[in-house]
Amino acid sequence: MTTDPEMTIRTATPGDRDSILELVRDAFTSADRDASEELDIVVSTWARGVVPELELVAVVGDVVVGHVMAGRGDIGGREAVAVAPLAVAPSHQGAGIGSALVSELLRRAEAAALPLIVLLGNPGYYGRFGFEPSGPLGIVYRPVGEGDPHFLVRRLAGYDPSYRGDFTYCWEARPG
Ligand SMILES: CC(C)(COP(=O)(O)OP(=O)(O)OC[C@H]1O[C@@H](n2cnc3c(N)ncnc32)[C@H](O)[C@@H]1OP(=O)(O)O)[C@@H](O)C(=O)NCCC(=O)NCCS
Repeated sequence: MTTDPEMTIRTATPGDRDSILELVRDAFTSADRDASEELDIVVSTWARGVVPELELVAVVGDVVVGHVMAGRGDIGGREAVAVAPLAVAPSHQGAGIGSALVSELLRRAEAAALPLIVLLGNPGYYGRFGFEPSGPLGIVYRPVGEGDPHFLVRRLAGYDPSYRGDFTYCWEARPG
């Protein structure tokens, strides 16, 4: 797989937001579903708990062709970070952009000394980046149920097994 040599990855800025919404809409819309769920997650995470240095865009020229964001959440009463969503423009899929975004996000998460990152996604895709099922680590996302194979954890160098319990996204928490 060759990555476009013109593609760069950088921290997202508020000025990218319209392009990001368009990209998320394009990436998640298909014949049988619209992208409203993912668009809601993006907007709610901006409002409730985006981690600014962990929101990245992939850019070709001045066009945003990929996006990933991480938001604050909570595992058993302690802050934990979750990735959601990851999107690559349909015209640029299969060219390594999604992999480059996830790899850079994990590099930054390690640099920030986070213990772990969680996400709800396809184990067939995220397994290649070291994500593993959350159930055996004692982390549960109730909306999908205990032991659901799609709720994944990436242990980082500072992993601490005492991070256990129910996970909640920032946009699910009641305003405090
Ligand atoms: C999933 C997505 C982010 C991958 O980004 P990408 O830039 O196309 O991916 P990459 O080029 O880095 O990697 C391509 C690899 O991922 C695999 N892949 C792509 N989508 C996949 C999926 N939904 N499930 C499992 N594997 C997938 C491809 O088969 C390919 O595998 P290979 O390297 O063994 O050939 C992108 O296709 C996308 O935006 N899809 C629509 C939105 C979406 O479903 N996002 C959620 C991801 S769980």
